[in-house]
Amino acid sequence: LRVAVLFGGQSAEHDVSILSASNVVKALDATRYEVVPVAITRSGHWLLIDLNGGALPDRVPDDGTQICLLPGGKGRLFAIPKTGHPHELPAIDILFPVLHGLHGEDGSIQGLAEAAGVPFAGCGILGSATAIDKDVAKRLLREAGLPVARSVTIRRGETPSFDEIAGQLGTPVFVKPARQGSSVGVSKARTAEELSSALTEGFRHDHKVLIEEFIQGREIEFSVLEQPDGELIVSLPGEIVPAEAHGFYTYEAKYLDADGAALSIPADLPDEATQRLRDMSAKAFRALGCDGMARVDFFVRADLSALVNEINTIPGFTDISMYAKALAASGIAYPEILDRLIAHGLA
Ligand code: DAL
Ligand code: MG
Repeated sequence: LRVAVLFGGQSAEHDVSILSASNVVKALDATRYEVVPVAITRSGHWLLIDLNGGALPDRVPDDGTQICLLPGGKGRLFAIPKTGHPHELPAIDILFPVLHGLHGEDGSIQGLAEAAGVPFAGCGILGSATAIDKDVAKRLLREAGLPVARSVTIRRGETPSFDEIAGQLGTPVFVKPARQGSSVGVSKARTAEELSSALTEGFRHDHKVLIEEFIQGREIEFSVLEQPDGELIVSLPGEIVPAEAHGFYTYEAKYLDADGAALSIPADLPDEATQRLRDMSAKAFRALGCDGMARVDFFVRADLSALVNEINTIPGFTDISMYAKALAASGIAYPEILDRLIAHGLA
């Protein structure tokens, strides 16, 4: 099977995507799949590139053969030479987007694939689009009876009063762009000044930001993998233990500081709590209209009450990422996850 692995992309998580996709390419069974690497530049061009000794390059090259997927073309991929006419490339069997954030994890690539008539791995349009938007996702989760942190959604141009926010949500608060991942643009604010700069930072990344109450709790995550027949596999719990120095699980703690956080799998939880959270994971997955895969992230308080923090439909596949590790601990090794995602996409 020819599998086009899409990586890089236009979002702030471009570099994270390269780390994720490198692992995906390494783990795809070479006897079953021919990898067609498609690098997406920060400006959104698709480039057909070569593997380097079977591996992806560690950055998206500046040039290469520019290609496009033709909508309505039954998955036909075209090369667009700088001069001359586009020509058709050998057909691909499935797209495997390993893109995080906007223009990748948000339903847009999934919509392009649907319109082009090409199968793709992972979550479809609806689940991708609802999960990427923390404001919409929370409303759907709440409606499904799942607890979420209290928050106020602010649109660009609105200036909330710190006293009102603090009265409603307490302090500190977290300020998050509605549609970002890897904690990009997220800050913690304790004072009016900090809130004001946190909002400025948040609005650099989106026109909608959430001000959220601070939840004192552990960060516990579950990997959800849907079988081709629709059955959901929910992994054992994984816990993120960020190093004290970072205060919360920041972008730096995630990817830049080798000791920024530790993963503990399975997380130390009583069986009752594990089962309750697994059920909540499946419910959250369905509430947002997800299919294929997602990672469901929780805050778990000392009394073991839990809130759904967020759902990632193309979770990280980097060396430090939870998704594959939690499934591996549950008996599904990395290459097997990819086989199942591809089978699901083709079903
Ligand atoms: N957004 C990052 C890649 C994650 O959720 O793992
Ligand atoms: Mg996320």
